[in-house]
Amino acid sequence: MAEVTLTGVVPTGLFIDNKFIPASANSTINIENPLTCSNLATVSAAQNEDIDRAVQSSTLAFSSWKRESPSFRRALLLKLADLIERDASIIASLEAIDAGILYRDSMGMNIPQALENLKYFAGWADKVDGLTLTIPGGMAYTRREPIGVCAAIIPWNAPLMITIWKLAPALAAGNTIIIKTPEMCPLYGQKLGQLIAEAGIPPGVVNIVCGLGGVAGAALSAHTSIRKISFTGSPGVGRQILATSARTNLKRVTLELGGKGASIVFDDADWENALFWTTMGITVNNGQVCIAGSRIYVQDTIYDKFIQEFSKRVSEAVHGDPLIAETTKGPVINRAQRDKILSYIDLGKSSGAKLIAGGEPFPSDGHFVANTAFADVSDDARIMKEEVFGPLACIAPFIAEEEVVRRANDTAFGLSAAVFTNDLNRAYRVAEAMEAGQVTVNNWGAVHANTPFGGVKESGFGRDMGKEALDEWTSVKTVKWHILGST
Ligand code: NAI
Ligand code: MG
Repeated sequence: MAEVTLTGVVPTGLFIDNKFIPASANSTINIENPLTCSNLATVSAAQNEDIDRAVQSSTLAFSSWKRESPSFRRALLLKLADLIERDASIIASLEAIDAGILYRDSMGMNIPQALENLKYFAGWADKVDGLTLTIPGGMAYTRREPIGVCAAIIPWNAPLMITIWKLAPALAAGNTIIIKTPEMCPLYGQKLGQLIAEAGIPPGVVNIVCGLGGVAGAALSAHTSIRKISFTGSPGVGRQILATSARTNLKRVTLELGGKGASIVFDDADWENALFWTTMGITVNNGQVCIAGSRIYVQDTIYDKFIQEFSKRVSEAVHGDPLIAETTKGPVINRAQRDKILSYIDLGKSSGAKLIAGGEPFPSDGHFVANTAFADVSDDARIMKEEVFGPLACIAPFIAEEEVVRRANDTAFGLSAAVFTNDLNRAYRVAEAMEAGQVTVNNWGAVHANTPFGGVKESGFGRDMGKEALDEWTSVKTVKWHILGST
């Protein structure tokens, strides 16, 4: 196949001060299409000096952005939403060819989610309020002030949506932000830079840099003029960022580090609904989803019937080009991720679990992995414990509510859980007992701009979305007035 390159279609430079500029020493990264394994584009890769330049730009921009009226900030966020909506098909195409994300998933889920967040936080811009408090001899009030120059380090699994989860509240609260796009699929970010300039967001308020995690990401983490980092990605990198903050300027850090989501199906659950969501929960975006429902516990009374139907449904996937409407499953992000998933499939095979779907390498040049499911997976199997970030379901039977809650909570992670039952008392009890940042009842994976999202335990801390996200992007100052002559 002739090599298709996007160079010239999206800008390839670093987006700093609303201009695209080359990285120092003209450093670049080659960007791969995971379907064809061909080179799509060559994009500038930020080095230490470029991060310094981005921070200088963001620092200068902050001095005026923090004084802008809330209505100005709101109008710009709404304008950006309009432009993303206008160019949604271009962004969805870029995510498809660069990250293997289905075009229809970007158009139907991820981009609408991003738009909702822009509009939701635009609405907050003039509501970042404090409290008035009474103290002996006077009064006090609190101000929720912007933190300053912030950074967001973005993963590759839903890059535009996660970028907006961070950018929208950061800007609404009056911060400036440097976005480090994922080196495996930065093209959406190159397009976003164009739209930010077109929206009239002042230069330096949003700088977007592509770069290697160990170079650009590490430089952002260590930079002493950056006051906060919001990170979504792997637990190992999250720990490094936290340690770097501790070693440097104690910048605020929020971490969303994925999970090992439990989906619990009781025998009184709506059968079709439970099957739909549990199947979706581990196959959508190839299971490369932080809230993937990768551990499925099914009550023993319906277990055999469930695994039969589950294996049939996950095996029906249509593999192919993520741009094409008929495709239900694109490639995973890259070869390393494919190999990681295949190695977990091997671990599953040797763990004594029963393979009920997939499990064989997929015959294709692209980075495809067939949907795979194991039944009878033991609680201590590595595939049951570790995040795979692939289309690999672990299914196990349970007998009683208390037992399944204990087993579902027996994990280092705590991002999400789902419970399927028609018994409302049980739904309430289980939702309360789950150690997770989000529990869905008779549903899986729902995220909404107005509901906070984040983890407990080793899934990290801090929240995206909801009004809780605004707290993450503001500092509280208390002002105390001593009133002379007051009693
Ligand atoms: P990663 O954590 O390395 O990548 C996420 C982001 O962190 C990227 O922008 C990357 O450039 C950056 N990064 C990498 N090293 C860095 C460093 N030393 N300092 C600062 N930033 C750095 O994740 P990776 O390697 O792409 O995926 C590996 C595994 O991580 C996946 O298999 C999955 O288990 C997990 N993951 C979880 C995600 C989530 O949504 N929670 C998203 C992506 C990956
Ligand atoms: Mg790519």
